[in-house]
Amino acid sequence: MPRSEPIKAVRGVRDILPADLPRWRAAEQAARDVGHRFGYEEIVTPVLEHAELIERVGEDTDAVAKELYRFDDRGGRNLALRPEATAGVVRAYFEGGLNQGPQPSRLYLIGPMFRYDRPQKGRYRQFYQFNVEAIGGAEPALDSEVIELADAWLDEVGLGDLRLELNSIGDAKCRPAYLERLKAYYRPLKDQLHGECQLRLERNPLRLLDCKVPQCQPFKKDAPRITDFLCDECSAHWTSVLRLLDAASLEYVLNPYLVRGLDYYTRTVFEFYPGGASGQQDALASGGRYDGLAEAEGWPATPGVGFAGGVDRVTELMPIDSIPAKPPLDVLVIPDGDLAIEAAEVARICRAVGAVAVDYAPKSLKAKMRSANKLGARWVVLLTPDEAKRRVAQLRDMSSGDQVELDWVELPTRLA
Ligand code: HAM
Repeated sequence: MPRSEPIKAVRGVRDILPADLPRWRAAEQAARDVGHRFGYEEIVTPVLEHAELIERVGEDTDAVAKELYRFDDRGGRNLALRPEATAGVVRAYFEGGLNQGPQPSRLYLIGPMFRYDRPQKGRYRQFYQFNVEAIGGAEPALDSEVIELADAWLDEVGLGDLRLELNSIGDAKCRPAYLERLKAYYRPLKDQLHGECQLRLERNPLRLLDCKVPQCQPFKKDAPRITDFLCDECSAHWTSVLRLLDAASLEYVLNPYLVRGLDYYTRTVFEFYPGGASGQQDALASGGRYDGLAEAEGWPATPGVGFAGGVDRVTELMPIDSIPAKPPLDVLVIPDGDLAIEAAEVARICRAVGAVAVDYAPKSLKAKMRSANKLGARWVVLLTPDEAKRRVAQLRDMSSGDQVELDWVELPTRLA
C-alpha cells in the first residue's frame, strides 16, 4: 500500500486544544458577563454572507480587497466567509426587524472571522472576535459606552494595563474637503513614498496616515490633521466623546494618524493596545462609529457604533491566574477485567455529581492508576468481577489514598 502523508490543518488556522480552552472560555464568559452588565443582548449571524454585502461596505479595505475568502457555491452564488461581523450584524438588525424595536439595539456576537492575511503570531486566517454594536443611536454617549465596555472586558480578563488610542475622522460632510488637503500635501512628495502609498494617494489617501513603512514616516508630522477640519457637528460630537471619556476616568492618547482599516467609519475611531510596550503591536480591540454603513448596505440611513476585540490575541496575553483552575475529571472508573457494561453503569450513577470517565483499555491496574494521576482525577472507583456481581465498588480518594467499599448507589452521596 502506498504510504500517504497525514493531512494537516489549513495554513493560518489553528486548533484550540483542551489545555488552551479554559482561557478561551474565560475570555468568552467575561465577554458575556460584561455585555450583559451593559445591557447588550447576544446575536448570532452566519459565517457565510453574500460577497456583495462585504464588498459594498469596504471595497478599498485590505480585509475586502486582498483578504476576503470568496467563492461560488454549487448554485453559483458568490459568497464570502465573513472577514468581520459589523456588516452582517447591521444586515440582521434590519432583516430581523430589530430596527422596529427600542433604539438603540445593543448587540454582541462572539464567533470566528476569516481573513486571508499573512499568518504570524497574533494574526490568523480564522480568528475569533467579541463584537459589540449599538445600532440606531447617534449620541456621543454611545461611543463612550462601547469604549468603556471594551475597557471593562479587557480589565475583566486581567489586561487592565492598556493604551487607548483615539481619533475622529469626520463624516461625509467634512471629510472630502480634508482629503483634498491631504492629497495636496502629499502630491509633491509622491516619488518619495513607497509603492503602495503612491497608489493610496489618489484611491484611499486616509490610509497614508497609518502606513508603517519607514520611508513614509518623515512626512506624517506636517500632514494636515483631520481634527482641525471637522465640521461643526463632527466637532461637537468629538468634544462630547472626550468629555464623556474624561468623566468615566478613561485615559486615552489622541492619535491623529489613527484611521482604521475599514472604509465604513465616521467620526470616532479607537484602538486598544497592551500598555507599557512600545513599537509596532497588534491591537487587542478596535472599532468606531459607522453612521454611513446601513445606507451603504441599501437600508435606511441609521447610525451605529461598536468595536471588536480579538479573542486570540487576548487569550495569548491573559495572565495565568485569571483562568479558573479546574481538573478535567472528578472520577475515573477503573474496571479490572471485562466489565464494560458494569463500569458504564457505575459511571452513569456517578455522573449525577461530577465529571466521570471510564478506563476501558485492557491494561494493568497499575497503568490505569497512573492514568488516573495524569488526568488529575480526585477519585478512583475500582471494580472487580466479584464486586460487580455484588453491586459494590472500592472508592479511593487519590489525595489521601483512603479506600472504602461502597454500594454503587451510595457513590453519589460520597462524591458530592
Ligand atoms: P478590526 O480592527 O478589523 O475591526 O478587528 C478587530 C479586532 O480583531 C482587532 O483589534 C484584533 O484584535 C482582531 N483581529 C483582526 N484581524 C485579526 C487576525 N487576522 N488574527 C487575529 N485577530 C485579529 C473590525 O473587525 C470591526 N468590525 C470592528 C467594529 C465593530 N467596528 C465597529 N463595530
